[in-house]
Amino acid sequence: MSETVIGIPQSFADAKINAERYADMYARSINEPDAFWADEAKRLDWYKEPTKISDVSFAKDDLHIRWFEDGELNVSYNCIDRHLPERAGKVALIWEGDNPAFHHSITYAQLHNHVCRFANELKKIGVKKGDRVTLYMPMIPEAAYAMLACTRIGAVHSVVFGGFSPDALAGRINDCQSEFVVTADQGVRGNKGVPLKANVDKALEQAPDVKAVLCIRHTGAQVPWVEGRDFWHHDLALEVDAKCEPEPMKAEDPLFILYTSGSTGKPKGVLHTTGGYLVWASMTHEYTFDHREDDVFWCTADVGWVTGHTYIVYGPLANGATSLMYEGVPTWPGPDRCWRIVAKHKVTTIYTAPTAIRALMREGDEPVSKHDRSSLRLLGSVGEPINPEAWRWYHEVVGDKRCPIVDTWWQTETGGHLITPLPGAHELKPGSASFPMFGVQPALVDTEGNLLPDEGAQEGNLVLLGSWPGQMRTVYGDHQRFVETYFSTYENMYFTGDGARRDADGYWWITGRVDDVLNVSGHRLGTAEIESALVAHELVAEAAVVGYPHDLKGQGIYCYVTLVAGLEPTEETEKTLKAHVRQEIGPVATPDVIQFSPGLPKTRSGKIMRRILRKIAEGEYDKLGDISTLADPGVVEDLIEGHKIST
Ligand code: WTA
Repeated sequence: MSETVIGIPQSFADAKINAERYADMYARSINEPDAFWADEAKRLDWYKEPTKISDVSFAKDDLHIRWFEDGELNVSYNCIDRHLPERAGKVALIWEGDNPAFHHSITYAQLHNHVCRFANELKKIGVKKGDRVTLYMPMIPEAAYAMLACTRIGAVHSVVFGGFSPDALAGRINDCQSEFVVTADQGVRGNKGVPLKANVDKALEQAPDVKAVLCIRHTGAQVPWVEGRDFWHHDLALEVDAKCEPEPMKAEDPLFILYTSGSTGKPKGVLHTTGGYLVWASMTHEYTFDHREDDVFWCTADVGWVTGHTYIVYGPLANGATSLMYEGVPTWPGPDRCWRIVAKHKVTTIYTAPTAIRALMREGDEPVSKHDRSSLRLLGSVGEPINPEAWRWYHEVVGDKRCPIVDTWWQTETGGHLITPLPGAHELKPGSASFPMFGVQPALVDTEGNLLPDEGAQEGNLVLLGSWPGQMRTVYGDHQRFVETYFSTYENMYFTGDGARRDADGYWWITGRVDDVLNVSGHRLGTAEIESALVAHELVAEAAVVGYPHDLKGQGIYCYVTLVAGLEPTEETEKTLKAHVRQEIGPVATPDVIQFSPGLPKTRSGKIMRRILRKIAEGEYDKLGDISTLADPGVVEDLIEGHKIST
């Protein structure tokens, strides 16, 4: 089969990074890392320039990761103030509402004003440097103001995705002992209200340490109110000054916590720090997207995920870019909404997830082709492997074959892109994340942990051999878990949890998670979280959750459930359990399939054999492997009989 390779278009002939430059810079980033990173650090304004560049050990018993340690800076200063001399009137944020009639632009000067006031409001409700502030926000500019305001005064934000349930929110508030919450009366998506403030109130029944809630009036809906604890943003804004000096922070001071799912246990608070993260966000935004001054950059992620942190807020704003924030959903009020937005705001770069591309592709070509997309010059993909059909449609229909696609592989833990093509440097192979970013050393290991040769075609588990400035520093409040999760599987390497192959030309292809993490519509979920939600229900004795291939979502959620003795499953039971998981975690975690089974395949020592459950969910009955070690091999036949998806 001949492989498709797409050349570098003429429009990227003068890109910042061409093939030669990439090779030189990559070599320098590996051979003289401290010199390379001392130079890259200059992209930021420091109160005190760093002289100690890196101090890293991946050894299990001496794990530490420090970058630019003696440097001092402020993130909001770098994202706002320093642009004012030249870009005060330039648009920093374009906000496009759920309702197509609503939109406005915020210049850098206005952003400065908003963020300073917001920072003073936070101070007024009692927030101090180092305090954790939980943000539970819709996609409105105030989400960015609140994040930047935290960084201005040295508070640590923890953004919780607005689609998570009150229970999930409470867990995340308590885990980082956050005493402050910022939210809005409601969010709006596809003309439907999301009861954010009401959810916060429910969450706070289980989070008694929260002292104050700052609430933004967005839709004007009636909301529950606790006098003395709750404050309206618009009231406080009148009481505070528009001047707020940025707090000088040490490079390794915590910047934010972002909860993400792992293969076991409850979600982990991934901690990113100030200097390294911002260097990484700014550098990757500039190079991957070949950022130019007049770009209109549209990252479609929610600010509740890392992609929204790095590529709606911190990367673009650190670079003085214009970043578009869209409140709604891709197909409301019509299937052409995204392309309408592109034409309306003259978007130059779209950065979205394969799951959205697949959903838009289903609507056909006409909604795309009827809008002017001549402003587009670059397309990006993130969050999950992109299938070749979706890649081709994105390239041919959306980008008219003119626009390269950067398929960026990275994780919440990595802060920003680690493997991605650079549009002026690399020819593209559809579906390949291509080449490592500067300073990144990917490698493959076999299941025993032996490094595979770094030449020729290879496939294995993806590890990283050294650190990069945007790497997470710890799991908040549980450093041991950080060590165990990422540095204990293979000695002296960071284990990504992903599988990958490298082809004979050196291109990297990510094959997906090799652990018990699901990727559902680009949202990361732990099977353990869904299982514990299920077994928390009184009807359930036991549950096991696996992923299976899903046309639209990439992966679907397949649950095997054993009910308590004596109960017979009904349609009602299935509905109840689906609703229960939805309520415990949030709509993103709603099971696609529940298969009731009297037993689960277990070894004699009682361990559930997930490999078998995965194969059955995938309908691959002939690939179950050895089932003779099961305590009761008969279970397998029952499970196959009960399998719910036709293949
Ligand atoms: C997956 C999202 C293939 C991967 C930024 C990773 C990808 C997980 C890609 C992290 C890609 C992300 N190709 N797979 N371009 N990008 N992934 O933490 O499995 O939400 O480990 O970060 O998404 O998900 P997270």
